[in-house]
Amino acid sequence: MKILVTGGLGFIGSHTVVELIRAGHEPVIFDNLYNSKIETLDKIKKITGSDVKFYKADLLDPDSMETVFKENKFDAVIHFAGLKAVGESVQLPLRYYENNISGTINLCKLMEKYGCKNIIFSSSATVYGAPKSVPIREDFPLSTTNPYGTTKLFLERILTDLTVPDKDLKVILLRYFNPIGADESGLIGEEPNGIPNNLMPYIMQVARGILPELGVFGNDYDTPDGTGVRDYIHVTDLALGHVAALKRVNTGGGVDIYNLGTGTGYSVLDIVKAFEKANGVKVPYAIKPRRAGDIAMCYADPTKAKEELGWEAKKDLETMCKDSWRYAQSLTK
Ligand code: WQD
Repeated sequence: MKILVTGGLGFIGSHTVVELIRAGHEPVIFDNLYNSKIETLDKIKKITGSDVKFYKADLLDPDSMETVFKENKFDAVIHFAGLKAVGESVQLPLRYYENNISGTINLCKLMEKYGCKNIIFSSSATVYGAPKSVPIREDFPLSTTNPYGTTKLFLERILTDLTVPDKDLKVILLRYFNPIGADESGLIGEEPNGIPNNLMPYIMQVARGILPELGVFGNDYDTPDGTGVRDYIHVTDLALGHVAALKRVNTGGGVDIYNLGTGTGYSVLDIVKAFEKANGVKVPYAIKPRRAGDIAMCYADPTKAKEELGWEAKKDLETMCKDSWRYAQSLTK
């Protein structure tokens, strides 16, 4: 299938492009390069041997997007493009609502104009807010505590509403848990701009000697060791979840929702210890106060994706840590 991958040079987008090619699909990328690098295109070619058509386009520039649709007939869109920093969204809500929501509306209008009837949307476990229990199932209540999460919740709702008048439109909502790791080639991975917000990129900068120590945000949660528990999933497993989701494309209209997680929760200290053991490096840390908005425990019940998509995460924590480190070592200090 010919697939438009918006944000296809980003962390999850680039890994998904690689797996789409490996599965025999023809991805086309558009990206505004705000939080990604054009060099990633060459790295995708090195990994797969394939040249991927790339367009520099922006969700908030409909003309730039329309060129992509004029020049290609897509079977489906996998929509990653969007702003995704929780903390930043609290400071810049208007920017997040305009970019993520208005931008996606622009995309959907072009899909309608050019007759593309399938969209796989990059949603997030953040739409579950503070879950009443774990593991989390897709039918759990939804609530959000920050503008970033609210854009995901609103977009799930908007995309769902589009399927009422258009009975042929298939919307697949994939709720990601905590993606870490990197392609086994070590050529692509997560390289956030500035000081990392997320745990694994921060650990990698400490291990590389760029940052002095990891601040562990609280050790007084109601968890086995007091530190926050999350469902860390290898980004390649996450990418393969998108390939599996294509099975639901052209199966009639409506909304399918899937958690993409491993079903296993690890604490912050579990991750530190696993990273040190897997890579033979030290990660100094200090306990700090809790981070506003954090929750104690969040991990998936991934049964539905296994039953309906035939997908489950296969890579273990040691592999996630080794693959992350291999990529981190390839970066210049
Ligand atoms: C994980 C754990 C922290 C950094 C966020 C978004 C979510 C999704 C994934 C986009 C928590 C602890 C972290 C640090 C720490 N993003 N931590 N020190 O918050 O679970 O999820 O990223 O979809 O929407 O909310 O991920 O990696 O920031 O934190 O102790 O320097 O690590 O308290 O327990 P999070 P995270």
